[in-house]
Amino acid sequence: MCGVASRRKAESIIESNKVSINGKIAKLTDKVDDEIDVVTIKGKVIKPFTHEYYILNKPKNVVSTTSDDKNRPTVVDYVKSKVKLNVVGRLDFDTTGLVLLTNDGDLIYKITHPKSHVAKTYLLTVSGTVTADQVNRLKQGVNIGGYKTQKAKIENIQTIEDKTTFEITIFEGKNQQIKRMCEAAGLHFLYLERLAIGDLTLQGLKSGHSKQFTKEEIYKFF
Ligand code: URA
Repeated sequence: MCGVASRRKAESIIESNKVSINGKIAKLTDKVDDEIDVVTIKGKVIKPFTHEYYILNKPKNVVSTTSDDKNRPTVVDYVKSKVKLNVVGRLDFDTTGLVLLTNDGDLIYKITHPKSHVAKTYLLTVSGTVTADQVNRLKQGVNIGGYKTQKAKIENIQTIEDKTTFEITIFEGKNQQIKRMCEAAGLHFLYLERLAIGDLTLQGLKSGHSKQFTKEEIYKFF
């Protein structure tokens, strides 16, 4: 619970006398009250952490990593948390929309494991019109650099003036998948916004705004 080691490894660390409770070497049978007792490993204080969950409507020109060597704004700048968060399913610098941030490794695994096939829905804007054949190709799968994409869902196609927007749902997450699918289908990509991950939507959040969830609330979506 302190992010130090697995349960089994923790037992062997305790058995090697490296753990103390209030200055006294700990035994496997000891119990602690984490509100009162001070637990150390080799003299360093450790504390249990709780899992935190946030969604963010990521603005354009923000990186989805938690730090950036070019000093660009990152998604964690938009979330008020003292814990180290990870981003579930990154978005490109120029892509906007739903990002999930958490320190819960089990949830990250559940959502991102290729076998989970969690749906990701995007609002895509391309230039010009889109033919029935192009829609079909996107739906059935296109070749992106030697990989044939799995079946996708396309809904709400609307052409206004010189642009077409539609919702596209994919059940996998290859790097820059939507942009590469556009290229493979001969579409000129303009904008991309993620609307949902599974049943979790943006919930009316404005760009740059975030919302915290409890564990119970977030797990209902996955
Ligand atoms: N597909 C892309 O091409 N970019 C994203 O940011 C997300 C999905």
